[in-house]
Amino acid sequence: MHDFKYINNELYCESVAIKRLTKKYGTPLYVYSRKTLVDHYRKLKDAFKSVNPLICFSMKANSNLAICRTLVKEGAGLDIVSGGELFEAFKAGASNKKIVYASVGKTKTEIETALKHRIFLFNVESLPELAMIDRLSAGLGRRQAVAIRVNPDVKPKTHKYITTGKEENKFGLDFDTARDIFLNRSGFKNLDIQGLHIHIGSQIVDSPPFVKAIQKLVDFVEEMEEAKINIKWLNIGGGLGIIYSGEKPQTAREYAKTVLPLLKKVKARLILEPGRFIAGNSGILVTQVLYIKTTPMKTFAIVDAGMNDLIRPSLYDAYHEVLPVSSPSYTIPREIRKYDIVGPICESGDFLAKDRKFINLKEESLLAVMGSGAYGFSMSSNYNSRPRAAEVLVDGNRHTLIRRRETYKDLIRTQI
Ligand code: LLP
Repeated sequence: MHDFKYINNELYCESVAIKRLTKKYGTPLYVYSRKTLVDHYRKLKDAFKSVNPLICFSMKANSNLAICRTLVKEGAGLDIVSGGELFEAFKAGASNKKIVYASVGKTKTEIETALKHRIFLFNVESLPELAMIDRLSAGLGRRQAVAIRVNPDVKPKTHKYITTGKEENKFGLDFDTARDIFLNRSGFKNLDIQGLHIHIGSQIVDSPPFVKAIQKLVDFVEEMEEAKINIKWLNIGGGLGIIYSGEKPQTAREYAKTVLPLLKKVKARLILEPGRFIAGNSGILVTQVLYIKTTPMKTFAIVDAGMNDLIRPSLYDAYHEVLPVSSPSYTIPREIRKYDIVGPICESGDFLAKDRKFINLKEESLLAVMGSGAYGFSMSSNYNSRPRAAEVLVDGNRHTLIRRRETYKDLIRTQI
């Protein structure tokens, strides 16, 4: 569900015509619907309201300050993975008490900064990292709450690059090591080892992998309780899939209905850290056709957005629906053709969509790449020295530029 729809054959974001935004801000352009963003956060919050979880939006999905601030104002915490995201989290107005920090490679400086800011919880991914946080906490005369990220070894049935809870993945610790840590927690004098964390992967559309992983986690919590070890926080990660094409992902309510009964006996407070579920369908990438090129094999629509703007199709073979911003009227002669929508970058992997049918696509036509609100701009780059796109947030009939388009000067800003 989202708030991008056609009114008189023109694509709108809430009450603003996309065409109007491109006239003002140019292309490629990320456009977000505030309503869609907030609705998705609220859907999860409502579905889980009986247990009042802490919902930490996963900033890696979209770290634009205006997007994060909108969610923070709704009461969300933030899930961070780097010092940069910590910096941005504060700029977005997040409370330190609602920041959870995962990452297999937290540097000393990053850990120290997070400790100084007294963030709520570190999600610890290895023994040396645990020892490091303990040492650095001692140095600062602090006691820090941590959760152990366990790797439950379940198959999430998603793209192999975004699978994180299988034994062969680099994330988390096995249950045996986690058990040793909890049983010997007094050895970590400056840590309150109070939580457990899992995150098994992303774009997961069926509930069985979640159920399997959470059940393993719950069994472990019960085992710890028998050993008189109190687990205060249970972070079940993110990973909820969304609709890109024909998927039928669990709704927030279905997810809660599946998950909550498993957690009935657990006293720990629940933490969720969704990214894509909240931001994915709240954003689109708008691009303009530069040329139509016909070869003996194919017809290409060469557009002004490339893999540097949206890398998901190139990296994961991800499917994004592509819609015309102005849907052609039925009275004119119709020419329906299949196109590969490709960018200007010098790589054959630079495509946004393949073999898609369009009517009367021509130079200067505007296209909307749907479902680009998560892992869109946040994964963009300057490859081929392309300035990164602008971002606009729409709220009803108002629109605000929330990131200006980069200039050529920005490309060399840090070079000496
Ligand atoms: N928590 C942790 C520890 C994570 O590693 C992630 C995502 C999330 C939460 C949020 O997951 P979500 O709810 O968004 O599925 N670039 C890929 C997705 C990578 C996800 C990485 N971790 C993509 O474009 O599909």
